[in-house]
Amino acid sequence: MTTAFLPPSCSSTSSCDSNSPVTDGFADVLVGLQYGDEGKAKIIDTLAPGYDVIARFNGGANAGHTIDTPQGRIALKQLPSGVFHPHAMLYIGSGCAINPWKLADEIEQLRQMGISLEGRLRISARAALVQPHHIAMDRRGSETIGTTGNGIGPCYADRALRVRNDTRVNLMLGDLLGNEADTVVAMREIFTRMINADGGTSPWVAEMSDLLLGLPGVAKQLRAYVEPDRAWLTTRVKAGAKVLFEGAQSVLLDVVDGSQPFVTSSHTVPAYAYVGGDLSPKYHRRTIGVAKAIMSRVGRGPFPSELGGERSAQYCHDASQSKTGKSEEASRFSPDKLLRSNDPFDVGTALRMLTGEYGTGTGRPRRIGMLDLAQLRDVIKMHAVDCVYLNKVDCLAHYLHSAYQGVPMRLHRDVVSGDVMPDILIYPGLTEQSLTLGREGKVDAVMNSFIDFIERHIGAPLAGLGLGPERASLVSLAEHSPKPVATLSPHD
Ligand code: IMP
Repeated sequence: MTTAFLPPSCSSTSSCDSNSPVTDGFADVLVGLQYGDEGKAKIIDTLAPGYDVIARFNGGANAGHTIDTPQGRIALKQLPSGVFHPHAMLYIGSGCAINPWKLADEIEQLRQMGISLEGRLRISARAALVQPHHIAMDRRGSETIGTTGNGIGPCYADRALRVRNDTRVNLMLGDLLGNEADTVVAMREIFTRMINADGGTSPWVAEMSDLLLGLPGVAKQLRAYVEPDRAWLTTRVKAGAKVLFEGAQSVLLDVVDGSQPFVTSSHTVPAYAYVGGDLSPKYHRRTIGVAKAIMSRVGRGPFPSELGGERSAQYCHDASQSKTGKSEEASRFSPDKLLRSNDPFDVGTALRMLTGEYGTGTGRPRRIGMLDLAQLRDVIKMHAVDCVYLNKVDCLAHYLHSAYQGVPMRLHRDVVSGDVMPDILIYPGLTEQSLTLGREGKVDAVMNSFIDFIERHIGAPLAGLGLGPERASLVSLAEHSPKPVATLSPHD
């Protein structure tokens, strides 16, 4: 009998037995499938009513989304996207890198809007602590990769390094609260050593000194939210909680799986949710992907479907160095004219302007690309993505006025064998009328053909289409899709 040698949980009388009662909750993982900024927050906002906990498992203040609320606009960087759903608990896992100053500021901004996170937000005491020298190091060396300058890379590097020159450098959020005075001293020491090594020329000395001075106050603000219990999420899931893990950045920027060195410094792939989110993968239910129809990338690195190729990459790099952003482009170029050009670089510039593709935090012009179905297919297969939300589908209408006279997409011509080189195809069928109908929630035959085409090429069902920036313009395809997920219909 082979079962005699198996651990109890795999024996025939264990929970693997489909007849045994299941009271546990589950977790779904939502990740971006491209290079970030796919509009994940909007999808989470729609799905949030179906979950009890929204949890972050990677990254830190390098992520970001802006939310318009009746009380005004708020830019969130570290808090999970579910803040505006009072029923949902929020969890920040040990895989995240916490900038305590910015986090305290986000919590305070929400408090001023009348949203209290007390009793709702838990942050793992083991989350890595971003320190002043991390921020200074990242800013100093940000140009090669085009990092966001938030100190995330140096922070994770120090976590792995643990000790430098006999000084512990892998500080965690719990250290700040457990031994505040020593932690502040340790941070100051490391920063001082760094600026001395620079010959005292660091331009950030005053700013970093201010951060250190403010740290005790910030520690006081965060104390109530820090969770020392490593099993906090597990306990909730065992009691039936449904968790939605929210990935920061995106799969193609994973520190190992992405194209080094042009990646972020954490793991962004869905499997990491269960390491950085402090939960056993036993509870995984499904993986939800988010992509956008007008692709974008910030920073350097490969982007096979980029409109204008290397020229676009260089232009956007130079623009971010010279702080040329949205308003400069608006004063220099006419997007309608550029759109009609035969040069893909011009079309990319026009699409950036017409669809607002500038960094939320940095204002940097984003590099623009065609929808890359070949790349999506590979990512979906690799990470067993169950369904996909496709945002910015309405923006494809701009291509109808371009020299392409249809929607250009990169794809594997032969999706069955999949062994041919990716190629560009101009999809002719989409019309402004079907996009307008879609925005009203009506999926007509033209749109259905488009959906079928996309699904066939990416190898996964579409769960929803983003047809405008507003929450209501997310069209659920639960009926269309062979594998509907969770709560898919938009809510008020
Ligand atoms: P870092 O994460 O700040 O170290 O930056 C590393 C790379 O990831 C750079 O190319 C960044 O532009 C990119 N990156 C980091 N966060 C995001 C994001 O939220 N959206 C898109 N790209 C990001």
